[in-house]
Amino acid sequence: MQANALSEWLDRIICADALEVLPQLPSDTVDLVLTDPPYFLDKLDNEWTPERAARRFYKSQTVFHLPPGMKFDPNQGRRMYEWYLDISRELFRILKPGGFFFSFSSPRLLHRVACAVEDAGFHIRDCFLWLYTQNQPKAMGVSHFIERMPLEEPARQQLKERLRGWKTPQVKSCYEPIIVAQKPCDGTFLENMLRHGTGLFNTEVRIGQNMFPANVLLVEGIEETLDKYFLIPKPSVEERGAFNQHQTVKPLALCEYLIRLTVPEGAVVLDPFLGSGTTALAARTLKRHYIGIEINPEYAEIARQRLQNLTPSLFE
Ligand SMILES: C[S@@+](CC[C@H](N)C(=O)[O-])C[C@H]1O[C@@H](n2cnc3c(N)ncnc32)[C@H](O)[C@@H]1O
Repeated sequence: MQANALSEWLDRIICADALEVLPQLPSDTVDLVLTDPPYFLDKLDNEWTPERAARRFYKSQTVFHLPPGMKFDPNQGRRMYEWYLDISRELFRILKPGGFFFSFSSPRLLHRVACAVEDAGFHIRDCFLWLYTQNQPKAMGVSHFIERMPLEEPARQQLKERLRGWKTPQVKSCYEPIIVAQKPCDGTFLENMLRHGTGLFNTEVRIGQNMFPANVLLVEGIEETLDKYFLIPKPSVEERGAFNQHQTVKPLALCEYLIRLTVPEGAVVLDPFLGSGTTALAARTLKRHYIGIEINPEYAEIARQRLQNLTPSLFE
C-alpha cells in the first residue's frame, strides 16, 4: 500500500479499522504510540462495538448469563496475540528508531500483549501499574448451580453451607498494566536522541511531589505517602465531557504524564484505538501533534467534540 506523507495525517481523527489505516502511514516518522486497545474479553474479539460492549449478557458454550469479564476462554488470548502482533508490526514500522510504545493491557491478557509487542521487534523496557480500589468484583457464587443439582433439600442446604464464600477464581481487579516497549535505537541512546529526537525519558517530569518518575500510578487517594508521589485523579465529568458515553475513558493527566516523559513539544503521538480521544486531547494540550484512529463513528465524534471544546486551539 502507498504510504502518504506524515503531514497529511497530523491532528486528524480517522474513523476506520486501525489495521486498514496503519499500513498507509509512512515508516520511521511517529515519535510515540500511546494506546488502550480492546481487550478481547468474552468473545467481543475485534468486533468491539458499543452495542455489544453495552449488552450486559453474552452466551457462552457452557454457562449462560455471565456478565462481561467473567468467562474464561483460552482462545481469547491466542486471538489477542495474533491480532496484536499484526498491529504491533505496523506500529514498529511507523515509529522512529528509539520511539516508545505504551500499551495498556489487562492482568489476564498481559502476557499475550507483551509477547505480541516483543515478537514484532520491540524491546520491552518496563511495565507500569495503574492502581485503583474501585472496581466491580467479577467472581460468581455457586449456589444457583447447587440449586439445580438433584439433591434432597437437607443435602442441598448442607452443600451450600459448606461452599459459602467459595466463588469462581476472580478477585477484584485493582490494576491495569501498561507495557512500555521501545523500537531499537539507531546507535547509542544518545546518538538516537540526537538523530531522531526519541529514545530517552525526561526524568524531570513529576507527578505530585518531587520524586524521580516512577512506574506506579494511582487513580484515587489510597495512603498519604503513596498519594503524594503517584496520584493521578480519575477524569471528572467536566474532563470527560457530559456527552461522553465511552465506558473506558482514561484520565487526561495519565496520558499527559506518559507523553511528557517521552517526547518534546512538536512531536507526533499516535493512538490507533482512540476511543473518546483522551490521548489526542493530552497531546494537543501539551503542544504535541496527534493522529487518532477509532473504528466506531460515535466515539470518533465524541473525540472530535472534546477536541473542539479545547480552547485555545494550539496549532491553528
Ligand atoms: C479501550 S477503548 C479506548 C479508550 C480511550 N483510551 C479513551 O480514553 O476514551 C478502545 C477503543 O478501540 C476501538 N477499536 C476497537 N477495535 C478497533 C479497530 N480495529 N480499529 C480502531 N479502533 C478500534 C473501540 O471502539 C474503543 O473505542
